[in-house]
Amino acid sequence: MTKTQTEDILEIRRLHQYFERGTVNENHALKGINLTLKAGDFVSVIGGNGAGKSTLLNSVAGSLPVDTGHILINQTDVTYQSVEKRAKLIGRVFQDPKMGTAPLLTVEENLALALRRGEWRNFWSSGVKRRDRKLFQERLATLGLGLENRLTTDIGLLSGGQRQAITLLMATLKNPALLLLDEHTAALDPKTSAIVMRLTNQLVAELHLTTLMITHNMTDAIKYGNRLIMLDHGRIVVDISGKDKQQLTVSDLLDLFKANSGQEMNDDAVLLS
Ligand SMILES: Nc1ncnc2c1ncn2[C@@H]1O[C@H](COP(=O)(O)OP(=O)(O)OP(=O)(O)O)[C@@H](O)[C@H]1O
Ligand SMILES: [Mg+2]
Repeated sequence: MTKTQTEDILEIRRLHQYFERGTVNENHALKGINLTLKAGDFVSVIGGNGAGKSTLLNSVAGSLPVDTGHILINQTDVTYQSVEKRAKLIGRVFQDPKMGTAPLLTVEENLALALRRGEWRNFWSSGVKRRDRKLFQERLATLGLGLENRLTTDIGLLSGGQRQAITLLMATLKNPALLLLDEHTAALDPKTSAIVMRLTNQLVAELHLTTLMITHNMTDAIKYGNRLIMLDHGRIVVDISGKDKQQLTVSDLLDLFKANSGQEMNDDAVLLS
């Protein structure tokens, strides 16, 4: 069945997360988050340091057990499902380009792993099949970085931007229900960051991916996606979509941040972007 715009892909219900609960250092990191994403929603997630953005994505991915609340993906409650089980539904890209790829494996070996979703046994027994190689070449060619000619290059020899572009391909190779991006362009230089952002937008559109993208770059947060949410101290304080989002400016966002948090957004990455 093809997904229609009305289908809920992600539903987060009254999600609370605590760190060091019951100690003097207790930190109530998420305070009753409610959030529903429809098929194809591309949501920018912004907020100051420590607002709870990564905690939110980690909760959805299952790498952080949920304290209270529920998370549904494709209308199935995954709140208590293991990370491994959920991984079939989720593609993730992190800030560090080294995290998403294995440096001593070649480009095609990394992609083959992604195709088998980390099933090492199948990977070692079957290696890279000719049919897969053709698929990898086609997918790599869409990046426009010439990587389709570097299938047998060790990933560790590529630049951060090239690695991040491949990580993005790997994360989306099996059309995940959800794509989770946690500042995936923050470690790249501005030019490379712009390339990877364009690729992200292209893949999300081509594959109609439902996406949550954390960014400290206000310009990207405005430019990309159909919806924007702002977190502050564990709460969603701004949720803008459609026309309202299209009309946003960076200065609007800084004003919204100040109005909601009572503080200036004192984040170097924001001011530099
Ligand atoms: N593993 C952890 N143990 C204890 N506290 C944590 C842990 N992870 C996050 N926190 C705390 O939870 C709060 C939310 O952190 P989180 O990493 O989600 O913020 P963030 O919005 O992603 O910030 P940043 O923009 O700096 O990445 C912060 O106060 C942080 O210190
Ligand atoms: Mg974070």
